[in-house]
Formats: sequence, structure tokens, C-alpha cells
Amino acid sequence: MGQVTALPRALAKAPSPQVDPSDGVPVNTKQIAEGAQRAKSAYLTFSPFSFHPARYLLLEGETVVHLGSRALEILAALVERPGELVSKDELVARVWPNTIVEESNLKVNVAALRRALGDGRPGRRYIATVSGHGYRFVAPVELSEPGSSPALRRSTGPGHSHNLPVSLTRTIGRADAIDALLEQLPRHRLIAVVGAAGIGKTTVAVAAAETLITANEHAVRFVDLAPLGDPQFVPSAVASALGLTIHSDDVVAGLTAYLQDKQMLVVLDNCEHVIEATAFLAERILSSAPDVQILATSRERLRMKGEQVHRLSPLASPPVSSGLTALQALTFPAIQLFVERAAESLEGFELSDADAPIVAEICRKLGGIALAIELAASRIDAFGVRVLSTLLEDRFQLLRQGRRTALSRHRTLAAALDWSYEFIPETERIILRRLSVFAGAFTLDSATAVITESGILGPEAVESLANLVAKSLISADVSGAVAQYRLLDTTRAYALQKLAESGELEAVERRRAEHHQTYSSKQSPNGRHSPPLSGWPNMGAKSMTSAVH
Ligand SMILES: Nc1ncnc2c1ncn2[C@@H]1O[C@H](COP(=O)(O)OP(=O)(O)O)[C@@H](O)[C@H]1O
Ligand SMILES: [Mg+2]
Repeated sequence: MGQVTALPRALAKAPSPQVDPSDGVPVNTKQIAEGAQRAKSAYLTFSPFSFHPARYLLLEGETVVHLGSRALEILAALVERPGELVSKDELVARVWPNTIVEESNLKVNVAALRRALGDGRPGRRYIATVSGHGYRFVAPVELSEPGSSPALRRSTGPGHSHNLPVSLTRTIGRADAIDALLEQLPRHRLIAVVGAAGIGKTTVAVAAAETLITANEHAVRFVDLAPLGDPQFVPSAVASALGLTIHSDDVVAGLTAYLQDKQMLVVLDNCEHVIEATAFLAERILSSAPDVQILATSRERLRMKGEQVHRLSPLASPPVSSGLTALQALTFPAIQLFVERAAESLEGFELSDADAPIVAEICRKLGGIALAIELAASRIDAFGVRVLSTLLEDRFQLLRQGRRTALSRHRTLAAALDWSYEFIPETERIILRRLSVFAGAFTLDSATAVITESGILGPEAVESLANLVAKSLISADVSGAVAQYRLLDTTRAYALQKLAESGELEAVERRRAEHHQTYSSKQSPNGRHSPPLSGWPNMGAKSMTSAVH
């Protein structure tokens, strides 16, 4: 291994679908052959990651880090010239050749890359923003010789069948919960991860399922039930996640017939609002498919025979005590989550000893609810730790109004959402509200179609969408060919309520339906997930509005 200052272009620039073959690749055939040969085998390390340019593969230790081709292309551009400024124009030209794109596309992809790298966590500093100019890869990069990556060999083994959502953030803490689930899975065929909204149920269920896949190549199918407004669609949602088209009125029978000889874990996410239909289907599946297991996430248990309930506790925060140092505070997962999200929002944010007790107080106030912590931490750029704490305290004082008891988790999260909503510019509020008509994932295109009206222009919409992603109100998945955005179910319920209050619900819903029609008549985009608008009739709007408040 040797430290890299500038990588040979042929190595760094392995063939990728995004790369324009005309821009500066070696012209001499021998050079090309040598370059290609090296590119196939050599890789770059920046601890604990290794990046394999020829395969466009990023590994953290032995685990594949799921990232979209665009984010990987950005990574390639940066690590090939460690320490050097790579301009925004250069990156855009390389990642989106021959296309005019908004700068926010670059921002969103760099943010996804940073999240995947855990940039900003203690001891992890990879990409620095050179304000107004571009980015610089600041960690030491080493070039590793061919054949020395056992992890790569293992990771390219037989493919595992799963459709789990790609998580661009690492799971903080929760080792106990994940271990407990893995330990219970062989003995129980139905496990329900139960807990308050935003506490981390989906995160834990996905992490457990991922471990299962890595450990024994278990087949896993993930079904998000949140978009369903009508319980009668539960069986079709499951069939669709399994890739089945059932030409029969009895979808349940079709499903059980298919599953009866399968060995599989089916993750049913967000069961609470269709709980009876889900329990009924689960019962049918479990009684006819002996090797199928179900891992459900729900705010309440399914109340089924043989159901193993795993109640998820809040992320642990430090107890009230004086003199907590930053290092001590960082042993608590709630603080880690806060600090990681704060560092995404404010470059260079580090927890100081002076701020540690304040952040601990914020996390306690937010009841260790992951989503509430994310919402608060992502506004650190605007307020700083102290003001943030005061603003939250004011909000909670109002809520408590003389009551001495702590707030319920439900009210805590509702308050955190209220607070975030209050502190975003009006345009972003309008946009967040309008986007709540999407029951599942949506693309930038569909977003613009429902947003742009009444004084909001396309570019403004795109910029605001990027801001809402940065503020944890919208999550972005840029791992596929087409970036997909979504509102977490709780955030969506909240925003939908606001949309109804604004009197715009019908008009926005109409725009969504019109766009859906135009969209359906064209070819669907080749994203990795199911097409954003073609899946389910968007009937969830009314039933969702009561989920928060
Ligand atoms: N252990 C964790 N580590 C990192 N992020 C987390 C963790 N738990 C939850 N989150 C984040 O908090 C938010 C809410 O989590 P989620 O799993 O969707 O909650 P739930 O399913 O209980 O509503 C998501 O943005 C998620 O990424
Ligand atoms: Mg969830």
C-alpha cells in the first residue's frame, strides 16, 4: 500500500454508465489495456472504507455500502485527487454529462455520500465543502494492491434475494434490540416490533433483516404498508412486494399457494393503520407456509396467537447529572444520533464539553425519540445548541401548562414536528404540505408537478426540496438511477393535516392524479424500487390525517 496524492486517471476512472468516454481517458491502446487491468483489481482505502473503482463498489469493512451510481461517481472524482479542490462544475459535468441539472442535485448526492461515510462522526472526516467552489477529499487515501481484499471476494458471492430499503445512515445503538430479534427469530414465526411513532421500529427491523441476509443468505421481502389507505389492499401490497401478479379475486389464496414451499422472512412495516387485515393475512400465511416468518412493525401489537412482542424503548440519553463530558455523553446513542445529524447540518460540528449537558438535556426532553432528535439536530445550523435548547424548552413549557408529568411520546413527537414546521420558511412549509399527497416514494419530477403552482417556480421547488431533505423532514434515496424522495409516515400524517387545514388538499390531490395519469401513459423510469406512482391508489390521504395530534 502507498499513500495516494493523484491517482492514475485510468484507475480512478473505471468504466461507468455516467462517464462520458470522450473526456480525457487515455488514448493509447496499451495504456488503456494496462489501465483497465489495474482498474479491475486495485482499490483505494480510507479507513474503514475501501472503494473499488472498477466495480463502483464501496465497502465498509466487509459490508457493502449501498449508494447510487451518482454518489459513487462523486466519490470517485474526489478520491482520485485527495486533498485537491474538485469544483462543482467539474463534478456536475462528470456526474451528469450532457445534461443540465440543478446544483441541488449535487448537494443531495454529496449529502447522501457523507451520510453513507458517516462523515462528521468522531474520527471520521472525509469530505470538506469549499464554500461556493466545490469539495475536497480530506482523509488520507491509500492505494491497495490487487488480491488483498478478502471482503471483496466474499461480497461478490451469490446474490441474496431481498428488497429492503437502502439505508444511507448507519444504525446507531440498538445492538441489543437487533440481537434480541435475531435470537427470537428462529423460535418464533411472528415477531412484532412495537413502539411509538418515530422511535426507530423500521430502522431496527431493517437492520435485523439485513443481518439475517448477510449471515445466512436468507430471502427477505419488505412490504411497506404505510401508503395503503384501505385495509383491503394489504394482500395485494404483499403480493406486489413478492413480485407476484395474481390473476384471481382471491389474492390471499394466491399468496399462500406461492409461499407454501418458500423459506423467507417477510417484513411487514407500518401495520398499525391496517392492523386487522394484516393480522388476518399473517394468520393465513403462517398456517399454510411453514418456513415463512413474519417480522412486523407497528405502534400496537397484532394480538395474534404465538405473536412475540418486542417493545422498542427510546434511544438512551444520559441521566440528569452535572459535569458530563462530551466523551461520556457520546456513549449514549441518543447523543450520537444528535451529533451525527448536527454534523450533517453544520459542517465541522463537534460536541464540546460545555455543550454536552445541554445536548443531553435536549435528548431527554425529546424522550429519546429518534425522529424528534433528528428534527432538532438538523436545525443546529440555524440556532446553535443553546438557542435550540431554549426554543424547545419554550415549546414544551407551553405544552405542559402546569402539568408536572412528562409528556407522552406521542405529544413529544407532535411538538417536535410542530416546532420544526414553525421554523421553516413559508415556501418550504407550502412544499412540505403539498408533498404529503404522495403516499409512498416520489421523484423530483412528480414533486415539481404537484408543488409548482401559486407563485412557486420550478427552481425554487427544487431548492426547497433539498432544504427539506437537509432538515430531516423528507428523506432521499439516491441509490437508484432516479432519486426517490419520501416523507416518513409520521411526517406525512402531520403535513397532510396541515394541507387539509390550508384548504389545498383537493387541488393538490388533483394535480397529483393528473400527473399520475400522464406519467402512467409514459414509460416508467428504471429506478431500483417500484415506480413511485404506479403502485397503489392514493387513498391514504384522509385516513392518515388523524395519525398525529
Ligand atoms: N438507531 C438509529 N440510528 C440512526 N437513525 C435512527 C435510528 N432509529 C431511528 N433513526 C432515524 O429516525 C427516524 C425515525 O425512525 P423510524 O425507524 O422510521 O421510526 P419508526 O419506524 O418507529 O416510526 C428515521 O429518519 C431513522 O433514520
Ligand atoms: Mg416505521
